[in-house]
Amino acid sequence: MQLDKLGDFTRSHNNGELRIDNIGQTVRLLGWCRRARNLGSLVFIDIRDRWGLTQLVADENKATPELLDRLKAVRSEYVIGAEGIVTERESKNPNMITGDIEVRLTDLKIFNIAQTPPIPVEDSDHEANEDLRLKYRFLDLRREKLQRNMALRSEVANITRAFFRKNDFIEFETPILGRSTPEGARDYLVPSRVHPGEYFALPQSPQIFKQLFQVSGFERYIQICRCFRDEDLRADRQPEFTQIDVEMSFVRPEDIHSLIEGLMVELAPLAKKQVVTPFPRLQYKDVMEWYGTDKPDLRCKIKIRDITMAFASSDFGLFRGAAESNGQRRVRAIFFPGKKASATSRKQLDEYQEQAKQLGAGGLPYIKWAGDGLSSSFKKFITPELESELRQTYALDSDSEGLLIFAVGTDDQTSKVLADLRVRMGKAFGLLDESRFEFLWVVDFPLLQWEEEEKRFVACHHPFTSPYPDDIELLSTNPGACRAQAYDLVLNGYEVGGGSIRIHDSMTQSLMFKAIGIGKDEAREKFGFLLDALSYGAPPHGGIALGLDRLVMLLAGVDNIREVIAFPKTAQARCLMTEAPNSVDRRQLSELQIQNST
Ligand code: AMO
Repeated sequence: MQLDKLGDFTRSHNNGELRIDNIGQTVRLLGWCRRARNLGSLVFIDIRDRWGLTQLVADENKATPELLDRLKAVRSEYVIGAEGIVTERESKNPNMITGDIEVRLTDLKIFNIAQTPPIPVEDSDHEANEDLRLKYRFLDLRREKLQRNMALRSEVANITRAFFRKNDFIEFETPILGRSTPEGARDYLVPSRVHPGEYFALPQSPQIFKQLFQVSGFERYIQICRCFRDEDLRADRQPEFTQIDVEMSFVRPEDIHSLIEGLMVELAPLAKKQVVTPFPRLQYKDVMEWYGTDKPDLRCKIKIRDITMAFASSDFGLFRGAAESNGQRRVRAIFFPGKKASATSRKQLDEYQEQAKQLGAGGLPYIKWAGDGLSSSFKKFITPELESELRQTYALDSDSEGLLIFAVGTDDQTSKVLADLRVRMGKAFGLLDESRFEFLWVVDFPLLQWEEEEKRFVACHHPFTSPYPDDIELLSTNPGACRAQAYDLVLNGYEVGGGSIRIHDSMTQSLMFKAIGIGKDEAREKFGFLLDALSYGAPPHGGIALGLDRLVMLLAGVDNIREVIAFPKTAQARCLMTEAPNSVDRRQLSELQIQNST
């Protein structure tokens, strides 16, 4: 079949545009054949473009020989042009925005043919295998869902730019070929041909540059930038990702918080959500105690409680042992109120127990209060006094129902298990409102943490984070107790942003380096230019970076970051479509003076 030339065949409308008002008009449409169906002598073709779908119809008996030729040839995903007259449909389709009309074909062009796609191009309940989708991403991206996600992503970037412009920020670009910045992950390195044996690092973030812009007096920096981190991947992490990166001079944490809250208020309607500002600000130590994680999902209101002392004189050795451990081990518990929770079956509890075991729990001790009384995995140890103490703790009256689950161990162990079950069970028992957006700021993170392997303190965020002025002395006396002026923005259990007030004077910066075991020479070698900059009148400053991909993921209502990135990498950090990374030829390597070790 001879393909048609586009020539002067231009579209009069897109495929999401025609309505009853257009009836009688002759129109020209362009796009892809989503599906062609023959019903008797009638041929129906759905034509698709970015904007929607329109139904085309032709009667084979009335078609010219050329039109008939094309009608017989057209297949799914062929690239076509349609000319015809808009008519009212006999049977309207309320699920389609153009469902009131159809276009009676007078001419059909076929601009290109297509092989049968290896993955469905239509959205369906059963997604194709993800590896196949990623291999044929150019087809996957034709699906409505991904088209929507890409458009949403673009809208988030547009709103963000407009928001910061309105607030007098300047948009900058910073180098991609740079020097390693200490953000905690491994760097992607780029060998230098001109300087054999030397390497650039792709930026893990533009952290140092945005601080230097403050020293240069720009005061309000914004960049929507790509960052690169060679770290273990998860559903919410990619090796290259995009940050909305912000830095300001003469600010306190509250200023950054209220600025970013303003942005969230403008973005939330994209997901048809409303948010109330100011967002709650919770201290790191409290969220760890109440929710077992520094990124709690506040759509579930239930808190973890420490009930170690209820077991101080219990015969249940496991729990009493914790009560006698001087705080080394604790018994922590969550109570899920209501019938749904109390109706949890043995089998379901076994499944939860399996999940808890995978997170390091020994088992999943529980007490259940249901209509038929109390049941428990350690019933023989539950004395009337213990039951009454527990009922009192949770303010239960005689007919309250619910499920109390326990974890025993170190804080790390119990937090891990209970943080997971809190959300998992919360969802299952209808105690987590999935329709909401629940933001919070987590503040007052520790500045440093002890690294057992290296036997030294390391910075929890990065070494430019400022301690609280009142805590600076602790840097030399008790570094572990020093609090950082750092904050994370959390939405529905995801960390969507993190930032801090920075150290802006050389003296504090030196104390910080000392506390993390970076000597003068090493500091000079690694950050000489930053230290210089601090000594030339650096203003007090601070900032934040938001994970744009994560934000879009949450706005799109999906739970995998790959769904909002056009060409993502797999969890093994590969691009299945281009097959990157790949080996390169010897000549390239020898130019770089690199020996191939494989
Ligand atoms: P941080 O390392 O917390 O801070 O990163 C900021 C935000 O970026 C997102 N993010 C990621 N998203 C996808 N894939 C990844 N691998 C990934 N890593 C991080 C998260 C995170 O909250 N320079 C500092 C910011 C500052 O202090 O101003 C920084 O990069 O949503």
